[in-house]
Amino acid sequence: MDNAVDPDGAEMQNAKITGWGKCLPPASLSNDDLAQIVDTSDEWITTRTGIKERRICHVDVSDMAAVAAQHALAAAGLEATDLDLVIVGTCTGDSTIPSTASKVQEIIGATGCAAMDLNAACSGFIYGLVVGTNMIRAGTNSRVLVIGAEKLSYHLNFADRSTCVLFGDGAGAVVLEPADSETGVLATELGLDGTARSLLEIPVSGTQGERRPPDPETAGITMNGPEVFRRAVTTMGDAAVRVVEKSGLTLDDVDLLIPHQANTRIIDATARRLRLDRDKVFINIGSYGNTSAATIPVALAEAIEQDRITPGDVIVFAAFGAGLSWAAATVRWGDRVTPVATSDAALPPTDRTAMELIQPNIDFFGLGAR
Ligand SMILES: CC(C)(COP(=O)(O)OP(=O)(O)OC[C@H]1O[C@@H](n2cnc3c(N)ncnc32)[C@H](O)[C@@H]1OP(=O)(O)O)[C@@H](O)C(=O)NCCC(=O)NCCS
Repeated sequence: MDNAVDPDGAEMQNAKITGWGKCLPPASLSNDDLAQIVDTSDEWITTRTGIKERRICHVDVSDMAAVAAQHALAAAGLEATDLDLVIVGTCTGDSTIPSTASKVQEIIGATGCAAMDLNAACSGFIYGLVVGTNMIRAGTNSRVLVIGAEKLSYHLNFADRSTCVLFGDGAGAVVLEPADSETGVLATELGLDGTARSLLEIPVSGTQGERRPPDPETAGITMNGPEVFRRAVTTMGDAAVRVVEKSGLTLDDVDLLIPHQANTRIIDATARRLRLDRDKVFINIGSYGNTSAATIPVALAEAIEQDRITPGDVIVFAAFGAGLSWAAATVRWGDRVTPVATSDAALPPTDRTAMELIQPNIDFFGLGAR
């Protein structure tokens, strides 16, 4: 998908982001909290990853997704009934059957529209953005809600310090609508290397193999961190450079990089490939950790809140994740950076602390070395 021209040379409709929203659960788990349950320290986590704290969800993924969606719909000035497609990028959905998207559709009241989940792990939001954009270009759909939402805390083994410090929960959403070809998604790239899929996995989380009882030895996220790191650094940067080239732009044209938030060292390497200074890179990993498919739509919503985006800006999204998948997109922002309206949608309150919320994981997996 290099540009919005069909094989006969006729100009096709493009898709632009008209609404944006986020939902972060209130309970926060700090590095110091983690140091009480596993052999780690605030200093190690901060210097090796950039993460200071992460949120732990007290409800379901669909609840976070629905709140983010309601903010995105308000920002676009649309009702849920205006939507004709809901895509939920997630690898931690409420249930396998039915889809998480079906629950989101029910909660927000987007009655009757098409809805589906899309699992490309941390690349899931950009994959959804590409699917939604192409549905609009094909004329199949015209108002598409793309969500990235994750409850990774459910799968975290708090005895494994190499993974439990990295991930958190959250959701972000955008609304896509038809645009002229000058604005919106300009170019995209999706890819995946299935031969490396075992580098980051939840070994037992689906129907593979024989039915067996839940077992802490195989239930949580496992990862070869250094190898995933090595691949992420090159793959994310390469994809980001290629989408800029595919857009017919130069690196100097890029106003803001909104990268997947997995590790500040990976983000810095991607920025170096794009020859961008830190002030042209949006980073919020310190507050939320890696929320997989949610990182980019959450970061986009915060970039707009913080006046980091102005009309006509060229934005690059880039991500990398389990699969091993990768994805990138260039977007030329439209003329509106203020929401049409606001929503008071919010999660139900909780008085449970993050430490209380992760106690079932600690009971199941056991405690790490002190
Ligand atoms: C996980 C990651 C932060 C580890 O950083 P690293 O610099 O590669 O560290 P290493 O894995 O080489 O470990 C170095 C040492 O720190 C230790 N260590 C690992 N996690 C630790 C923690 N939370 N606290 C303290 N020490 C830790 C290791 O045990 C190792 O100790 P050793 O030298 O005694 O064996 C890094 O590899 C990474 O970010 N990988 C990519 C992860 C990712 O983004 N995954 C999601 C993709 S979407």
